[in-house]
Amino acid sequence: MAPTPCITVDHLTVNYRDVQALRNIRLTVQPGKVVGIFGPNGAGKSTLIKAMLGLMPVVTGRVSYGEGTLARQLDRVAYVPQRSQIDWTFPATVWDVVMMGRVKKTGWFNRFSAVSRRLATEALERVGMLEFRDRPIGALSGGQQQRVFLARALAQQAEIFFFDEPFVGVDQKTEAVLFKIFQELAAAGSIVMVVNHDLGESITHFDQLILLNKELIAAGPRDRVLTRDNMTRAYGGHVGFFGHVA
Ligand SMILES: Nc1ncnc2c1ncn2[C@@H]1O[C@H](COP(=O)(O)OP(=O)(O)OP(=O)(O)O)[C@@H](O)[C@H]1O
Ligand SMILES: [Mg+2]
Repeated sequence: MAPTPCITVDHLTVNYRDVQALRNIRLTVQPGKVVGIFGPNGAGKSTLIKAMLGLMPVVTGRVSYGEGTLARQLDRVAYVPQRSQIDWTFPATVWDVVMMGRVKKTGWFNRFSAVSRRLATEALERVGMLEFRDRPIGALSGGQQQRVFLARALAQQAEIFFFDEPFVGVDQKTEAVLFKIFQELAAAGSIVMVVNHDLGESITHFDQLILLNKELIAAGPRDRVLTRDNMTRAYGGHVGFFGHVA
């Protein structure tokens, strides 16, 4: 298999009616790293992901992946939206949710193939949720739900993974499982982008950071991004973060 190319975001500007959500964002996302997207509430983190995936109109800019635009290659992408955007009353079992990842990959007609069933089983096993396969998705804890959505992303056999705030409402054990799998995906050469807001010790699990507040404040290796100046520009005033000595 050819190595995964980079994603290039070029001069991306996104508005919601009269609100400017993102201004002139330029960045490159490399495979092989766990990349964290940080910034305050309303900074445009979720919007950046949605715009990169072509899920919302952009004013200007282009997001490319290899030879084409990323939005035209969504079969290579697994995206787990922010919890608040998922309808948890939807009557589906854990197994159904993971198999939906296969529909994206193979289309409706092949979704129940032996390969799909095997991949779904392996994915549930990897996140420690196989024994819950017949449970309704709404009858799980927040951490268990996140693991199921991670399993769906794994079953999809994507090469690009986007997770929007996967750690909200999850326990430490689940957080460790999620980080471990993100690191494995990156080590296997995938692109892994994770929106997060916790500036505590967990930030050390990210290889690269993207710091946003409507515009790009900084992007790159953790120690280059986590400077007091950058954090003040992103968050305003004083903000405590791991590794920062006041
Ligand atoms: N559907 C929408 N209609 C109008 N404005 C929106 C919509 N969604 C987001 N916005 C605005 O766009 C800006 C960026 O929102 P976005 O959800 O991308 O931020 P975020 O960084 O993901 O925030 P959070 O940490 O709260 O998830 C905010 O000012 C927000 O109010
Ligand atoms: Mg968000």
